[in-house]
Amino acid sequence: MKKTIFITGASSGIGKATALYFFYKGWNVAATMRSPEKDEELSKLEGINVYKLDVTNLEEISAVTSKIYQDHGRIDVLLNNAGYAEVGAFEKSKDEEVRAQFDVNVFGAMNLTREIIPYFRKQGEGTIINVTSVGGKMTFPLYSIYSASKWALEGFAESLQYELQQFNIKIKNVEPGPIKTDFYSRSQNVFENEAVSGYENYEKNILGNMSKAGAKAPGPEIVAKTIFKAATDGRSTLRYPAGGKAKFILFFRKVMPGHFFNKLVSKTMERR
Ligand SMILES: NC(=O)c1ccc[n+]([C@@H]2O[C@H](COP(=O)([O-])OP(=O)(O)OC[C@H]3O[C@@H](n4cnc5c(N)ncnc54)[C@H](OP(=O)(O)O)[C@@H]3O)[C@@H](O)[C@H]2O)c1
Repeated sequence: MKKTIFITGASSGIGKATALYFFYKGWNVAATMRSPEKDEELSKLEGINVYKLDVTNLEEISAVTSKIYQDHGRIDVLLNNAGYAEVGAFEKSKDEEVRAQFDVNVFGAMNLTREIIPYFRKQGEGTIINVTSVGGKMTFPLYSIYSASKWALEGFAESLQYELQQFNIKIKNVEPGPIKTDFYSRSQNVFENEAVSGYENYEKNILGNMSKAGAKAPGPEIVAKTIFKAATDGRSTLRYPAGGKAKFILFFRKVMPGHFFNKLVSKTMERR
C-alpha cells in the first residue's frame, strides 16, 4: 500500500517542495493550505490531493484529518510545516501579534498532533514531523517571539516522544537553517509601533542582513530531502538539522560556551 503524508502550509516553500519530493518518491500526498483555490500546480498531479486548512481553525483540523484518512485509508506522516515569523524589537510588538505567532507556529502544530494521535494509535504506527528551525535551538536578534515559538515546539516534541513510544509513534523535529523561500518576505510580519522609537537603525541593519542571508540560501528541496529521511529511516532520532548552515550553526551552539556563541551571533548579525 502506498504511504501517505499529510502536510500543512503546502502552498509554497518547504511545504510545497516536500509535497513534490514525496510525490516523486511514490507517496500519496495530502497537501493542505489556507487558499487551495490559488494552487496551480499540486492539484494537477495525480497522487497529490489538495485540501483547505488554516491551522488556527480547530473545526477545519478535525474535518480535514478525518477526510484525508478516509480518502487514503491511512496516514503515515503528519508534517507540521505551516509557520511564519513575527519580527522586530519586542518593545514594539502587540499582544495580538505575539498570540498570532503562537496560534500558528505552536498551537496549530499541537492541535494537529492531538488530532492525529488517535489515528496513529489505531494504525499501530505513525510519524509526526515538525518543521522547527535552528532558531529553536539558538536565537537571532529581533526574532524573540519567533524563537520563543520554535523553542516551544522543540520542548513539546522532546517531552512527547516518551509517552508516544509505547504506541510506536515517532515525533521528530527538522531544523532548517536559512532557506530561500517566501519566509523572508510575505511570511514575516514586522512590528509597527509609532509610539516606540530608537530601534530604527538596528532593525534596518539586522533585517537587511537576514534578508540577504535568505536570498543567498539554498532552496527548500534540501529540507524536503531531510524530511524524507526523517520519515523513512525507521529511527527514533529526535532532531534533524536541515541544510549545511544548520549543521554548522548547531555544532557551534553545542560545543561553544553560551556567551562566546552569543557574541558570535551578534557579531555576524550586526555587521554593517
Ligand atoms: N525559510 C527559512 O529560512 C526557514 C528556516 C527555518 C524554519 N523555517 C520554517 O519552515 C516552515 C515553512 O516556511 P517556508 O520557509 O517554506 O516559508 P513560506 O514559503 O513562506 O511558507 C510558509 C507556509 O506557511 C503557511 N501558513 C502560514 N500561516 C498559516 C496558517 N494559519 N494555516 C496554514 N498555513 C499557514 C503559508 O500559507 P499561505 O500561502 O496561506 O500564507 C505557507 O504555505 C515555517 O514553519 C518556518 O518557520 C523556515
